[in-house]
Amino acid sequence: MSKGKKVTVIGTGNFGSTVAFILAMNGVCHNVVLRGRNYNVAKGKALDMSQASNAARQHTIVKAGKTPEDMADSDVVVITAGAPRTPGMSRDDLLLKNADIVKKYSREIKEHVPNAIVVVVSNPLDAMTYVALKETGFPRERVLGMAGILDSARMAHFIYEKLEYGAGQIRATVMGGHGDTMVPLPKFTTVAGVPIEDLLDSEEIGEIVKKTRNGGAEIVNLLGNGSAYYAPAKSTTVMVEAILRDTNQIHSCAVMLQGEYGYSDIVSGVPVMIGAGGAEQIIQMGLKPLQINRFKNSVASVQKMVDKLEEMKFFKR
Ligand code: 2OP
Repeated sequence: MSKGKKVTVIGTGNFGSTVAFILAMNGVCHNVVLRGRNYNVAKGKALDMSQASNAARQHTIVKAGKTPEDMADSDVVVITAGAPRTPGMSRDDLLLKNADIVKKYSREIKEHVPNAIVVVVSNPLDAMTYVALKETGFPRERVLGMAGILDSARMAHFIYEKLEYGAGQIRATVMGGHGDTMVPLPKFTTVAGVPIEDLLDSEEIGEIVKKTRNGGAEIVNLLGNGSAYYAPAKSTTVMVEAILRDTNQIHSCAVMLQGEYGYSDIVSGVPVMIGAGGAEQIIQMGLKPLQINRFKNSVASVQKMVDKLEEMKFFKR
């Protein structure tokens, strides 16, 4: 338990609520502020979670945030706000709608929590992380997007489904943007240290890669009215915990590249060492030509969205 730590979660939908709930269950912080458009809903959920925290013998208090001032002194602010995908939509279809929402909250964060670390989970993830970076003006260490942990967890699940062993021991690696061009990396994926290429044939691995890319859409189609939230929320709290506990763990996260992997002024998912300062170090992996090419495609798809926002003079408004 880190005494006195505070986290604000923006968005009271399934995603934001589940993030706040997991934080209330694991005792990693003293205070969670839950902010959403409907104060009564936020208050009801906050009360319910604070009571759950007592049931779990934890002492995290969850409160509803009414005004931007309620975010003050947060160590971490998680932005989950935004419309989720519905069947047939790609994450990119949410671009303009969610960019406005992320901009509004980023400006509030800049004013009221100027020292916070921001974790963005609104979609399209990489472009929204870019918006949060530009609108807060924070250094890149303090604005991170959550996606790689989720995509890697999905890949690990599909590997487990195939192998039927190794649960909890699978370390899958996914780089690139959180979209259809994400780059699962079987070559950097192991089960208890054993490369998956020693355990599965190339056809099976190809199928796992495909399922990983489609992992979010599969759930969107099944739910019918929204996107996944349990695995996304758990993945988000892994990042929040790494920051609050200053673990210096390496996770795949979306960050602003400044020369790494040959790109600058664009956000993409790469391995990052996370500590109290946020994205404290970006790890450069040695990629093979095919992986370099896929990463290039993925970066280009994020660049396209940023270009669209630039064309609309979004950042000048
Ligand atoms: C997903 O992949 C919500 O983008 C998130 O499920």
